[in-house]
Amino acid sequence: MFQIKAKDGKGRVGVLKTKHGDVKTPALMPVIHPRKQALDVAKYGAEIVITNAYLIYKDNKLKQKAIDEGLHKLINFNGPIMTDSGSFQLSVYGDVEITNKEVIEFQELIKTDIGTSLDIPTAPFVEREKAEKDLEITLQRAREAVNYKKEQNMEMLLNSVVQGSTFLDLRRECAKELSSLDADLYPIGAVVPLMESYHYKDLVDVVMNTMKELSDTRPRHLMGAGHPMIFALCVAMGCDLFDSAAYILYAEDDRLLSTRGTFKLENLQEMPCSCEICTKYTPDDLRAMPKEKRRDLIAQHNLHVSFAELRLIRQAIYDGNLMELVEERCRAHPALLEAQRQLANYTMDLEKYEPRSKKSAFFYTGAESLSRCEIQRHMQKLREMPKKTNLIILPPTRKPYSKFTSGKLGEFYTYGSNNEINIEDSDFMVLDIPFGLIPLEIDEVYPLSQNDAPKTYDVDSIEFLEDYLYEFSEYYDEILIHSRIVKKLELENCNKYDFEIRYKKDDVKKIKAIADYQFGNGAGEALFTGNINIEKSKKTGKIRHVYDGKTLIVNMRASDSYLILSKEGAKRLHKAFNYPKNRVVVNEDSEPFALDGKSVFCKFVVECDENIRSNDEVLIVNKQDKLLAYGKSLLGACEIKQFNTGQAIKTRKGMKK
Ligand code: GUN
Ligand code: ZN
Repeated sequence: MFQIKAKDGKGRVGVLKTKHGDVKTPALMPVIHPRKQALDVAKYGAEIVITNAYLIYKDNKLKQKAIDEGLHKLINFNGPIMTDSGSFQLSVYGDVEITNKEVIEFQELIKTDIGTSLDIPTAPFVEREKAEKDLEITLQRAREAVNYKKEQNMEMLLNSVVQGSTFLDLRRECAKELSSLDADLYPIGAVVPLMESYHYKDLVDVVMNTMKELSDTRPRHLMGAGHPMIFALCVAMGCDLFDSAAYILYAEDDRLLSTRGTFKLENLQEMPCSCEICTKYTPDDLRAMPKEKRRDLIAQHNLHVSFAELRLIRQAIYDGNLMELVEERCRAHPALLEAQRQLANYTMDLEKYEPRSKKSAFFYTGAESLSRCEIQRHMQKLREMPKKTNLIILPPTRKPYSKFTSGKLGEFYTYGSNNEINIEDSDFMVLDIPFGLIPLEIDEVYPLSQNDAPKTYDVDSIEFLEDYLYEFSEYYDEILIHSRIVKKLELENCNKYDFEIRYKKDDVKKIKAIADYQFGNGAGEALFTGNINIEKSKKTGKIRHVYDGKTLIVNMRASDSYLILSKEGAKRLHKAFNYPKNRVVVNEDSEPFALDGKSVFCKFVVECDENIRSNDEVLIVNKQDKLLAYGKSLLGACEIKQFNTGQAIKTRKGMKK
C-alpha cells in the first residue's frame, strides 16, 4: 500500500494506495470539519483529507448519515479520507464517550480509508510516570486495534500513533513496539504543542528518535503539522504525511502562511505570493471584505502555499538537493535554525540513507552544511585510509584539483625540522571547504569535486579547517603546508621549507586509491595486479577502462569517477575481502536467478554488508560465499533488511558462463 518512487536521504517521494485512489507523498491532508466545512479543498490541490470520526459519532444526525451514506458522501470528498479517533478531544477534555474498539468499528462502518486507534496524546515535558502510564495504554490499544482489524477482516488501513512525550527513550520504545505490529501507517503524535511554541529543536529530537525505530516500509505522518515553513525539515527527517487545520484556523485569524513564516493581514502592504488570491486582491481589498469571505480567500492562499511547498520538496527529492532546501528554509526563523543545528546530532542516522553518489552537486550554504553526513563520511574514510609518512597540503585550485596541479608547487612551510623530506613517501592533499582534506588521487570522486562553496571563508569554515589540520597532523611525521594556506588561515610558528616540492600524476596510484576509497583498504592492490593497462577518453583525458592485459577489470564512470566492476573485477574483489564485505547474500531459491543475471529482490536477501549504500557496486553471493553475480544496489543496507518487496540489487551480470 506504500511504494517509494524516489529518495533523497531519509526523505522520499512515494505513492500511498487506498480504496479511493492513490496519493502522492509527501502530502498534506487538510482537516475537514464534518459539520462546518465551507471550502472545497480538492479544488486547491488536496488529494487526501482528514476528518474526525469521534465528532461524527457524537452527533446523532451526522452519525446516521455517515452510517447510511458513508463518510465520503457525508463530507463530500471522493478521494481518500483519513479519520482521527477522538484522541485530541480526549487530551483536551480528559475523557471521551467511546471505547477504542467502538471507534475502530465505527470507522470501518462508515468506510474510512485510514482509521486511527484511540491513542493517548501525552503532552511534552510531563512527569515521566505519566508518560509511561499513558504509553502503556496507547500501546495496548494499538495492539487491540491491529488484532481487531485482523479478526474482523477490516478493509480500512490502520494508523498506530507513536507517543512518549519528550522522553526520547519512550518514543524509541513505542516506535519499536508499534513497528513489530502490523499497522499500515505510523503517525507521530502529541507534537502540536512543540510546534505551537516553536520548540522545533525538541521536535527534531522527538522525530529523529522515533525514526530510529520506525520501519522505512510504511508511511509516517507528523500529526497536526501544517505550517509549510517546517515541511522540508520534517520530510528530510522521514515524514511522509502532514495534516492540519492551520490553513483555516490561521485564516480565521487573518493570518497568511508562507515558507518564510506567518503574515498578519493588518501588517501587509503587499500580498506575499503569486497565487490566484494574491494576484487578484490587495491587502486593502481583503481588509474591506466581510469576515467570512475574507477567511475563505486567505484559507485558499494558505492551501496554495502549502501544496506549492510540497511540490517543491518532491522535486528537490527527485533532484537530490533536499538538504539544500532544508538549509534555505531553516533560515526563516532562529528556532528553525536551532532545529537544523540539532539535526547535526543525528548525522550518522541520516548517513545510512545517503547514497555515496548522486547527480546533484553538494552546495555549501552556510556553516551548518559542515555537519552534513557527506562531510562526516569523507572524514571518517580519510581517518581509516592507509597513510604515508608525510603530508603535503595544497591550496585549492579550480576543480578537479588534480587536473590543475602538477610540476613545481610553490612555497611551503613546516612545523618540524627543515630537513628535506621523502616526496615518494608523502600524501598530497588539497585543503578546501567543504570537504577539508582531499587526497589528490581521489579528488574527482563524488562529491569531492561535485561541490561548490564560497571562496571567501567564514569563521566557522576557518575553524573547521584548523581542526581538520590539527587532527591529521597527528597522523604524520612531517606536514608541509603551502604558503597560501599559511596566509589564509594565519597559521603561526611555522618555518619556511627550503626544498622544492613537485607533484607527478600517477594513474595506477589513482585507480588504486579510488578502489580503496570505494571498496575498502586493499581493494586497489587486489583489483589491479598483472599487466595493468589504462585506457583514457581521447576527448576528456579521463580514465575510462582498466585492463589486465586484454581482460577488462573495471570501467570508471565519467560523472563521479566511481569504479564499475567487470566480471574479472568482481572475482578479484570477492577474493580480496572476507564475507560479508561488499556483499549481498541471497537465499538458495534465488541462486539460479542471480547466476543468470536477474535482479535481486529484497525478499531473497538474507544478509548484507551494513556499509552498503544505495548506488554502491556490490557482490551477490550465496550463504557459502560463492560469487553468483555483481550489480548496483538500489537501497542502503538498512533498507534492504527491512523491505520485503521490490528490487534490492540491479544485477549487472551473473557469473554463469
Ligand atoms: N492530532 C494531533 N496530535 C494527535 C495525537 O497525538 N493523536 C491523535 N490521534 N491525533 C492527533
Ligand atoms: Zn497567495
